[in-house]
Amino acid sequence: MCGIVGYIGKKQAKDYLLDGLESMEYRGYDSTGIAVLDKKSINLAKVVGRVEHLRKAERENPSKGHAGIGHTRWATHGGVTKNNSHPHHDQNKEFYVIHNGIIENYQEIKAYLTKQGVKFYGDTDTEVIPNLISELYKEHGDVQKAFKAALKSLRGAYAIVMITSHDPGNIYAAKFSSPLAIGVAEDGMYIGSDAMPILPHTKQVVFLEDNEGAVVSCNSYELFHIKTDKSIKRPTELLEIEHEAAEKGDYPDFMIKEIHEVPQTIRATMLGRLRADEGIVKLGGLEEVRDQLDYIDRIVVLACGTSYYAGLVGEYLLEEISNIPVEVQQASEFRYRQEPLSRSTAVLVVSQSGETADTIAALKKIEGSGILTLGIVNAPGSTLARMTDAGVYCHAGPEKAVASTKAFVAQVTVFLLIALHLSKNYRNFDKLIAELDSLPQKIEEVFAQEEKIRKLAEKYSTANDFLYIGRRYAYPLALEGALKLKEISYIHAEGFAGGEMKHGPLALIDKNFPTFAFALSNDLDEKLVSNMQEIHARDGKIVVVVDEGKSEAAKLSEDTIVIPKVSEQLQPLIGVVPAFLFAYYAAKRLGRDIDKPRNLAKSVTVE
Ligand code: AGP
Ligand code: GLU
Repeated sequence: MCGIVGYIGKKQAKDYLLDGLESMEYRGYDSTGIAVLDKKSINLAKVVGRVEHLRKAERENPSKGHAGIGHTRWATHGGVTKNNSHPHHDQNKEFYVIHNGIIENYQEIKAYLTKQGVKFYGDTDTEVIPNLISELYKEHGDVQKAFKAALKSLRGAYAIVMITSHDPGNIYAAKFSSPLAIGVAEDGMYIGSDAMPILPHTKQVVFLEDNEGAVVSCNSYELFHIKTDKSIKRPTELLEIEHEAAEKGDYPDFMIKEIHEVPQTIRATMLGRLRADEGIVKLGGLEEVRDQLDYIDRIVVLACGTSYYAGLVGEYLLEEISNIPVEVQQASEFRYRQEPLSRSTAVLVVSQSGETADTIAALKKIEGSGILTLGIVNAPGSTLARMTDAGVYCHAGPEKAVASTKAFVAQVTVFLLIALHLSKNYRNFDKLIAELDSLPQKIEEVFAQEEKIRKLAEKYSTANDFLYIGRRYAYPLALEGALKLKEISYIHAEGFAGGEMKHGPLALIDKNFPTFAFALSNDLDEKLVSNMQEIHARDGKIVVVVDEGKSEAAKLSEDTIVIPKVSEQLQPLIGVVPAFLFAYYAAKRLGRDIDKPRNLAKSVTVE
């Protein structure tokens, strides 16, 4: 999804702009551009395609200057063309704007401006912004007043950054729903739509909240409220993310690196929280709402995609270990439901990026209702992390592949920690605590089969369809495994609860429709074996993940992956790794763009 950078300071702006845009490429985009202000003139370069093409275009028409803005676009209004890429300028080329999100009332603004004689060169919603500011500048004769007046007319979701030849000493920014951060460094001020581009330059960052604007000079920032114009004082905060962790290292792709980081991710997620020797789970992020949690008699989990599947695992964990009824809903559906929620319900959002528009909108729906809101988020300081009353960070480190892997495992680990934290007299408490503490080592053993799984994935990479099945804790694994395969290999894959086979999916099965089955030991494993027999009897080929090499399930399967045996509550954390590797190597064999699969974005910040 789109990215924003801006810089004003002692250095040449273009280096940060280009490097910053490159650091956000993993989010997915279709075009990109920068504008750099030198005294009174602004140099513009923009292309359809990658940042590397923008670098080439910029070299042909080099920009110099100490203030500038840059954007990677994920088109919502107007086709993917050079004209529609950002930065956008007014017809007099005095105001240059970049924008993440959607201006919902752009048609009425465009109609008004057209009546004033404004000529537009593109088809985007964004282009109305610099022209509206330009028209208001004629009225006010002051850039700040014009900028503030324009913001009051905009409706929708936006992060906006502007430079103008009328005020070369400042960059203007504003945020409503799409994230925006300002990094404060000795050599200047670094703006970014997330912390990633800023981190190599400074960890002192201030995040704009919704309805806030900023005037940023080379060594200061002034925040103001868009509706009231009131000045806002907010110091920077020290961001603890390590920049170097976000690089590929010796791995060919971020995805395989992040899959290999699963064991250390579980350790990082548990660090300081799971006190195995004391037999306790300590979650500082929930301390301030501990009293409220005691009165919670229902939890509604809201999420999208992989985070939704982590929520489904969390449902089993919370209900079984802390005996709290849980309902998991797709955020994109919850936000439009008319669902009564009692004050004894807590809403728990799950999100790797913390910027997913549907999840933000779902949470916004209950704002002001007095309902306790919690978050399981990976990105520190992200919108969802700041919207919730309390929460537990995943501590998975930056996840850059579009396909989420280590974050899923971190989310499930957090669910387990929360369930244990809230449990009262759970019979297997000590056993689980001890097992969880040693789980990372067991997952390391799965990687000993990576070569075997690679060969299996390549063998099945010619399939056009795949069924994934599992029961209880492995049912969400079936859903997640299917999502991983389809989103990076583009092979059609569906996940089902094993018990659903005879209610329809079995009709799909023949020798050309293979199945990936999770047949890990639990009190339903004979039931899953009978589901597999139904498949086997119809010549369906099965790849099975088992924790007992000699099991009935293995006998029914064409190919078997054996993983270490753990308690059922921990199975999702270890059982998902073969599914990640299987999807990765199938996609690799098919020559797919592993970290940036087609049509997808890492953080879906538009609806
Ligand atoms: C998962 O591999 C996908 N990238 C996607 O389904 C993702 O999980 C979903 O968009 C939710 O993102 P979030 O966790 O950042 O909210
Ligand atoms: N709505 C704007 C456009 O289509 C911005 C899209 C984005 O967030 O990249 O250009």
